[in-house]
Amino acid sequence: MMINLDTIKRLIQSGLKAPSADNSQPWHFEWDGSVLSVKYDVVRVKDRTFPANSPATLLSLGTVIENILYISESYNISAKFSWSPDMISEESAGAEINLQPINSVEPSTDPINHPIFKRHTNRFPYHKTALPKQVLNEATQLSEGSARLLIINSKSLIQELGQLVKVASEIRFQTKEVHEWLGQNLRFTKEDVKKADGLDIRTLALPPGGSMFLKFISSWHRMKVLNRIGAYRLLAKIDAAPVKVAPAIVAIIAPPTPQGAIDAGRLLCRSWTYLNTEGIAVHPYYVIADQLTRLKAGTIPENLIEKAHYLKQECTQALSLGEGETLHMLLRTGYPKRTPPQSLRLPEDVIFTDTSNN
Ligand SMILES: Cc1cc2nc3c(=O)[nH]c(=O)nc-3n(C[C@H](O)[C@H](O)[C@H](O)COP(=O)(O)O)c2cc1C
Repeated sequence: MMINLDTIKRLIQSGLKAPSADNSQPWHFEWDGSVLSVKYDVVRVKDRTFPANSPATLLSLGTVIENILYISESYNISAKFSWSPDMISEESAGAEINLQPINSVEPSTDPINHPIFKRHTNRFPYHKTALPKQVLNEATQLSEGSARLLIINSKSLIQELGQLVKVASEIRFQTKEVHEWLGQNLRFTKEDVKKADGLDIRTLALPPGGSMFLKFISSWHRMKVLNRIGAYRLLAKIDAAPVKVAPAIVAIIAPPTPQGAIDAGRLLCRSWTYLNTEGIAVHPYYVIADQLTRLKAGTIPENLIEKAHYLKQECTQALSLGEGETLHMLLRTGYPKRTPPQSLRLPEDVIFTDTSNN
């Protein structure tokens, strides 16, 4: 029994629907008739987002794998994924998913209604209403391999984490590389949005005039000048403010290894999809995890290293991280006040090659 191409395309759509940093969708999918491979598309995304072997990319790879494995079940397809450290370098990362039909591959419900396709980022304000105990209990049960999840709903700890997001964000707004990536990925006009990748500014919950300001500071040169009068402090404060008033925060924790990042990505996507299905909004914050990775890699600007060490120490303490664990992602969660516009995805001809001769 063969898996038909339409089904494969639906699996690929589910993988592409997974979250990626700045909606960069750094993936290319290839189907050879039995193996679906997912590869980092270095030609398309080089110097526009995190490199292939970064924890951020591997986290994103984990989310793609999670979605494809999840939707395969609905199609009665056995999906087994594999990856090896040899597949990962600064310019390449990926995984192979072996797909075998179990019996009938017809889905029981229309896959477009699958929860995967409803998961989204909501950067708008949330209600202060606490999340129901039953949802918190169910979410707490989730884990994947070496990755675990921590739910924080104590007001004082939420405040503390908000403060840490602010510290991390102060470093971020003084870091050329991430700032330039953001500049390249912002989509300001309808025409730009139609490119179907990057960040549609309508999803960013900006105040009036915010879009023009963002456009102005998206040049690193101008940001650097404004930083002399402390712009990074103001921007970090704005970035962290919603975290401090969130009813609950979810922390995704795993070892600081490629396997840890992939496990964390799978758990991230599973818990995010679950919360969205329960009507709870999710806003991911990668900024702390990013500074921790940069500190380890020695890429924090010299004058900010002490601040990054402080961040690491406080984060370890606040989240009671064990030996060999790091934070991979923080999620602000709560009941949404509004539904954001949906981020688009790249067309099939850009992200898919069929070599199966079907
Ligand atoms: C590794 C990674 C880091 C991310 N960091 C942030 C972040 O710091 N802030 C944010 O608002 N969204 C962040 N996102 C969410 C993406 O911007 C979002 O998933 C993407 O724009 C697609 O939108 P969607 O989630 O609505 O499908 C991150 C996603 C990933 C996978």
